[in-house]
Amino acid sequence: MKLALNTKAILWVAFFTALGLSFNAHATPPDAVAGKVKAQACFACHGENGIGISPEIPNLAAQPPLSLTYQLIQFRGQQRKGGAMETLAMTLSDQDMRDIAAYYSSLPPPPAKSGNADKIAKGGQIASAQYCNSCHGPQLQGQKHIARLAGQSQDYLVTQLKNIRSGARIDMDGTMGSAARGLSDEDIDVLAVYAASLN
Ligand code: HEC
Ligand code: HEC
Repeated sequence: MKLALNTKAILWVAFFTALGLSFNAHATPPDAVAGKVKAQACFACHGENGIGISPEIPNLAAQPPLSLTYQLIQFRGQQRKGGAMETLAMTLSDQDMRDIAAYYSSLPPPPAKSGNADKIAKGGQIASAQYCNSCHGPQLQGQKHIARLAGQSQDYLVTQLKNIRSGARIDMDGTMGSAARGLSDEDIDVLAVYAASLN
C-alpha cells in the first residue's frame, strides 16, 4: 500500500465526508481550456468573462478555484440553493467542476465599482473591526475555499450576507455564520458597497 499522504487533501476529504458531500480528490489536474468548453452553459448568466449579466448573478472571475468548486459541490448536493444553480450543478462531475473553476479563476478580476465615499469608508472600518480580511484576504480578494468579495455585485453580497445571517444559506464550517450573526442591515449595506469598490 502506498502511503503518499497529502495531508491537505485528506483534510478536505474528511471535511466533505463529515458533511455528507462527495468529492473525488484523486483525479486529473484541473484544465482551464477544457473548463472553458464545459462552461459554455454558464456564459448566459455568468458571462464568458466571468462577470454576471445582472445584479443578482455573482461574478466568478478571479474567484479562488477551491471556493468555486466548493460552492458547486454544495449546489449539487442541494445543501445550497438559489438561482436554479442546484439543478444546473447536478449534471457536473467533480472533474467538470475543477475544470470550470480553473477557467473562471484564471480570468481578470471584475472592475472596482464606484460608490458613496462615506459608505465605502464605513464599510472598510467594519470589515477590519469584524476581521473579514483575516479570512477573505487583505483586499477581500479571497483565498483557498473562501470567496473573493472584491468587485462582487453589491446586490448579490447583500442577499448572501442576509441569507448566511438567517441560516437560509448554510455555512459549512460555521465560521461565516458567526461572522454574519452580529451584522445589522446597515452594516451589511456598507460592507457590500465597500467590497464592490475593491479590485
Ligand atoms: C440561469 C442563470 C444561471 C446559469 C445558466 C448559471 N448560473 Fe451560476 N448562479 C446563478 C445565480 C442567480 C447564482 C446566485 C445563487 C444564489 O442566490 O445563491 C449563481 C451562483 C453560482 C455560484 C456561486 C458563486 C459564489 O460566489 O458563491 C457558482 C460557483 C456558479 N453559480 C457557477 C455556475 C456554473 C459553473 C454554471 C454553468 C454550469 C452556472 N453557474 C450557470 C445563475 C446562473
Ligand atoms: C473565520 C473566517 C471568516 C470570516 C472572519 C469571514 N468570513 Fe465570509 N466566508 C467565510 C467562508 C468559509 C465562506 C464560505 C461559506 C460557505 O459557503 O460555507 C464565506 C462566505 C462569505 C460570503 C459569500 C460569498 C459568495 O460569493 O457567495 C460573503 C458575502 C462573506 N463571506 C462576507 C464576509 C464579511 C462581510 C465578513 C466580515 C463581517 C466575513 N465574511 C468574515 C469565512 C469567513
